[in-house]
Amino acid sequence: MNQTQENPLSQISTQRFSQLSEEEKKNFLLGRHFDSSKIEHYKELLSDFSSAHHKYPILQEMSENTLSHFPLPFGIVPNVLINKNLFDVPMVIEESSVVAAASKSAKLWKEFAGIKAQTLCQEKMGHIHFFWFSQSTLLFSWFETIGRKYLQEKLAPLETNMKKRGGGILSLTLKNCTEKLAHYYQLEIVALTGEAMGANFLNTLLEAASQILKDKAPSEGNIDILMSILSNYTPNCRVKASVVAPVKELDLFFQQTTQTANFCQRFLSAIKISKVSLERAVTHNKGIFNGIDGVILATGNDFRAIEACGHAYAGRLGSYQGLSEAYLEMGHENNSLFHFSLELPMAVGVVGGLTRLHPLANFSLELLKNPSSNQLMEIACSIGLLQNFAAVSSLVTTGIQKGHMRMHLLNILKHLEATKEEKANAVDFFKDKTISFTAVCEFLESLRRVH
Ligand code: MEV
Repeated sequence: MNQTQENPLSQISTQRFSQLSEEEKKNFLLGRHFDSSKIEHYKELLSDFSSAHHKYPILQEMSENTLSHFPLPFGIVPNVLINKNLFDVPMVIEESSVVAAASKSAKLWKEFAGIKAQTLCQEKMGHIHFFWFSQSTLLFSWFETIGRKYLQEKLAPLETNMKKRGGGILSLTLKNCTEKLAHYYQLEIVALTGEAMGANFLNTLLEAASQILKDKAPSEGNIDILMSILSNYTPNCRVKASVVAPVKELDLFFQQTTQTANFCQRFLSAIKISKVSLERAVTHNKGIFNGIDGVILATGNDFRAIEACGHAYAGRLGSYQGLSEAYLEMGHENNSLFHFSLELPMAVGVVGGLTRLHPLANFSLELLKNPSSNQLMEIACSIGLLQNFAAVSSLVTTGIQKGHMRMHLLNILKHLEATKEEKANAVDFFKDKTISFTAVCEFLESLRRVH
């Protein structure tokens, strides 16, 4: 007899899983997958991590079938100077060294007047994707003479609140996409969404518009509305962050700290490689999103939307390329300047979604002095820039393993319950040695034998 048959709770049909209480869900799941020796242990584990959502029920309510909570580190990149304002930027990220690396770059760029950041545009868009089985001229002439105006009038009540907040529809455009796919058309809505990310606003407009299109398009044609959804590709909702410093000073700094000559030239070569090597470009951009995602998560925004959009933008020129740019501005008497920048699209909100409901996302926004949506774009982009600078400058000087391995060593020492003194000894001992779990165990054993 297998476990499933033995456990009476496992008789509960999976269809009804969602209707069970949290406790019942745990019992059912654990009984189905573990034997009694592990059930109590995992029950306790799930309970330990669910204490936050018992105190803040929104943490449980924001998704379905929530049994517990999966904590990730909530860290701070202190003293980030952006547009002459100093921020302590919250980041949620599991990868060791990311917060430390961003903090290191923030400190360096603060010495060079900080980061200049600017939101370039904030338009979002969405589409009704549909098929039209008649002459396209019939559809276009209806749209231009009647359809657009009718849609504008009928959608107006849905825009009232958004208009009060500075948003609303900017344009309605019919697009013939039949060269890409037979009978395929789009109705595109472009809108401003105020301080919200805009997904709900756009999707509501699109679904209402799709019903109108279905009912009112010329009856001679045959229309088949397939789907209506915002686009997470927001090339006209873009932000740019940039830094500049004298080549001489940066080169000297890296010469002194890493014994690497010609830092700026080496950095520029790395940027050039990110433009021509797909393999490098993906990793390069991953480093940028290490920074951006951390801020996006900490502020309750949608990092999947921002990543998907950023990667699509990285491929806009026909090949996937690194998102950051660098160049040298030649000056007189060896006074050249190093320019480094990051420009990319991202759609964020500072109201709506989880931004104010998640207690820590709300805290993050307050900590950032309640930024507007464009200021949050500027902060996230700046952290992406800092992160990219930190990664590339490590790669072209010491390599990244040095920093990573130090964190790895500290994690191993924590796991082995090393004392403060043992940790200090180990850090010193492994300064110039290869770190592995076995090597650290042996080192600790030798230390403990002596004492
Ligand atoms: C690691 O998470 C990110 C890096 O690989 C980024 C890069 O290579 O530029 C260090």
